[in-house]
Amino acid sequence: MKNCQHVIRHANLITCQDNGNPYGLIEDGALAIDQGKIIWVGKSILCPYQGTKEVNAKGQLVSPALIDCHTHLVFAGNRANEFAMRLTGTSYEEIAQNGGGILSTVQATREATLDDLVSLSLPRAMDLRSQGVLTIEIKSGYGLDLETEIKMLKAARTLALKAQIDVKTTLLAAHAVPPEYKENRSSYIDLICQEIIPEVSRQGLADAVDAFCEGIGFSVAETRRVFDAAARWGLPVKLHADQLSDLSGSTLVAEYGGLSADHVEYASEKGVKAMAKSDTIATLLPYAFYALQEKNKPPVSWFRKHGVDMAIATDCNPGTAPTTNLHQCLHMACTLFGLTTEEAILGVTRNAAKALALEHKKGQIDIGFDGTILLWNFKDPAELVYWQGHHRPQIIHTYSNTQI
Ligand code: NIG
Ligand code: FE
Repeated sequence: MKNCQHVIRHANLITCQDNGNPYGLIEDGALAIDQGKIIWVGKSILCPYQGTKEVNAKGQLVSPALIDCHTHLVFAGNRANEFAMRLTGTSYEEIAQNGGGILSTVQATREATLDDLVSLSLPRAMDLRSQGVLTIEIKSGYGLDLETEIKMLKAARTLALKAQIDVKTTLLAAHAVPPEYKENRSSYIDLICQEIIPEVSRQGLADAVDAFCEGIGFSVAETRRVFDAAARWGLPVKLHADQLSDLSGSTLVAEYGGLSADHVEYASEKGVKAMAKSDTIATLLPYAFYALQEKNKPPVSWFRKHGVDMAIATDCNPGTAPTTNLHQCLHMACTLFGLTTEEAILGVTRNAAKALALEHKKGQIDIGFDGTILLWNFKDPAELVYWQGHHRPQIIHTYSNTQI
């Protein structure tokens, strides 16, 4: 017997590997972890390791840690009033055009200090963590000026330490045109390309660049300028694409080899084919779809037909997705969009990792992958999707936010 730090035995092990079994299942599986990494995985009976810590899973489900690959969870303020307005017939676009929506959160976020932002956002991150979500992507985009965008990204990085999670940060300066540039959109794009992206990149505060390509956001031409600047600074891109209309955002982000096209309710088949070619993930955000009472569903059958992998995320934000419940989003991806439970689970493990360029480190139980593992108190993987509330996993091994 060889020695290592942790061994988990007798697990209903969903590896999320592509090993020919649903969920990459290994029945009566075991894994060995050393120095934060998985060093062995297979059938319990074949395990050659003895752990300093031994865990007997007693046939219960063991999974990789979950990943929420699209959130705006750092923000100040509250938009419950807009929810009430939408219930009486005012649309999300109308609210945005009248200075509410994203811009109302921008005002509150500009007024908040870095410490305020951290303490307001920490409970949201901790809530996700308690559900087994140990990697979270967090976007800026409620600052829309250099100082506040940086403050948001620093708050996100601070949350990683405080909540003991891994955080990937995304610069979303192209989320809305700030009021001071209302009459001069093109100067705002200049600011993003010539000052915000370079400075954020110099400070190493962002892992990717995102934009909101939409009628109430930015045009394809404007988004292109932002993407070109991101490429000059060596940052990968992702996009809020085809959420409320088809502006061919999916095609655009695929052209830039983007990590993901997100929302994609109105994506065309041409866009889906382009995404397949560039290996761009489709990130589905069913809570925003539901909260906006959208009618157009993302084209799941085209994603399947053309081989585009799907991720699922909360989109946690104060406007269109006031939620920190990733399990509910899994449930909704199945009931509203027709995903299978297996597709849903891969959407918050293997495919979510890929949407964050972490596909070689996270989202699967395999040799060399991150050794943070979840032990659940049930056996059937479908339970992760089916039941809402109270399922809280035991987190095995320590967090590793120095690793990404
Ligand atoms: O992902 N679509 C744009 N951005 C967010 C909404 C942000 C907000 O309303 O504050 C989204 O839905
Ligand atoms: Fe979003």
